Amino acid sequence: MWHQRADVVVVGTGVAGLVAALAAHRRGRKVVVLSKAADTATFYAQGGIAVVLPDTDDSIDAHVADTIAAGAGLCDADAVRSIVADGYRAVRELVDDGARFDEAEPGRWSLTREGGHSRRRIIHSGGDATGAEVQRALDHAGATLDIRRNHVALQILQSGGAVTGVQVLNEDGPGIVHAPSVVLATGGLGHLYSATTNPEGSTGDGIALALWAGVPISDVEFIQFHPTMLFDGHASGRRPLITEAVRGEGGILLDRQGNSITRGIHPMGDLAPRDVVAAAIDARLRETGDPCAYLDARAITDFDRRFPTVTAACRAAGIDPTSQPIPVVPGAHYSCGGVVTDVYGRTDLAGLFAAGEVARTGMHGANRLASNSLLEGLVVGGRAGRAAAQHANDAAPAHAELGDVETRVALPRNKLQRAMSTYASVVRDADGLQQLARELEAADPRDLDGRASFEDVALTTTACAVTAAALARNESRGCHHRSDFPDTDPALAHSQVFAAACC
Ligand code: SIN
Repeated sequence: MWHQRADVVVVGTGVAGLVAALAAHRRGRKVVVLSKAADTATFYAQGGIAVVLPDTDDSIDAHVADTIAAGAGLCDADAVRSIVADGYRAVRELVDDGARFDEAEPGRWSLTREGGHSRRRIIHSGGDATGAEVQRALDHAGATLDIRRNHVALQILQSGGAVTGVQVLNEDGPGIVHAPSVVLATGGLGHLYSATTNPEGSTGDGIALALWAGVPISDVEFIQFHPTMLFDGHASGRRPLITEAVRGEGGILLDRQGNSITRGIHPMGDLAPRDVVAAAIDARLRETGDPCAYLDARAITDFDRRFPTVTAACRAAGIDPTSQPIPVVPGAHYSCGGVVTDVYGRTDLAGLFAAGEVARTGMHGANRLASNSLLEGLVVGGRAGRAAAQHANDAAPAHAELGDVETRVALPRNKLQRAMSTYASVVRDADGLQQLARELEAADPRDLDGRASFEDVALTTTACAVTAAALARNESRGCHHRSDFPDTDPALAHSQVFAAACC
């Protein structure tokens, strides 16, 4: 067993992780960043960053109102305001770190619109390659950080109610990084499902690590399905996203017969919040038996220049988006819930912080507003890094010891993904969720002897939590649609919290 020491350990290298690590590093702390995978969800983000720019017709109030409307009664209004109001400052800091955004004219950023936004307020880069630019800038700024690749965080270690370090697996075997502060920035859980827009490392690790440490998680039944994942004939793994900005620029959603899918469903039509559009597509596909819907973007001028990432993905699948409608299906995209934190990334366990998709700050409620995730990652990532640095400064030196580890169980990944895709997808019901719970009960003990087995265990732990939360929410709200409870129940306008693994 190897041993190392740090002031702050950051788990993850997407926007929240790198911003947190840079913030702690710039405060003079010894920071170790753990990374298990080569790519991040940040890299694949297309649309952009929702941010209120000064000297526009936009306002913090309007952005807060849109976020809360999308969140379907479960946003924490104070958290939303705090994060939205800090957005422009955080974006300027990212620009100082080298990020560049598309300009409408010299000195004025170009703004696009996405579902649920009442204004054009999304800044973007490289047309639809915003995440790649954010990642490039942060990778460059973080070149001096101590980033350990191929390191899997297996367990948060604690003693006397405070973090003492992380148990880690690398090519030398298991070891411990002793540290008083740990920031979880592990991203999402899209690989609970057979097909997802998420990179392969999105296996619910942070939620599982928190539950094993007895740290509360919340809102995990609210898994956002992006309405337009490219339908390219491949049914599994990471599938390309077709950014919502395509609809923001005039693309329209049609069924195979050429009928609008969202007409009469919501006043914002194809630019309704994501949960509404994904559910409308799902309903139409069930009704018609068609395998996919279509996004007709042919009227958008200069499409390939504005959307080079989408164009490349379509062409790779043999589709020319300038001359034919793009086949799309809803795809698992974003976890609105996660590890419960305040807006500084602080969890219930002293020294444990979380930021980005893994965290539940109260910003997203039951349904995240498009392009609010990079914003949240930037703002809360920076705050969590500063808070972790301060905690490390104030805390006694950490000495971690391995306690007794409970047996971890896992279902084979394909089986788990099939069951989740069948029973806990865009629309759920009690019978299906109970069947899912029974299948999860058949999970077998698994040794954590490598990244794959750790991920299978994390996926199973996370799936059990999602299933329990989805079963307990007997209503439809935000991204959680129950065919047996199609209405929203005002009495259930509160979050559910879980503080222990249910399997
Ligand atoms: C998109 O570009 O449609 C995705 C943006 C997001 O998930 O916020």
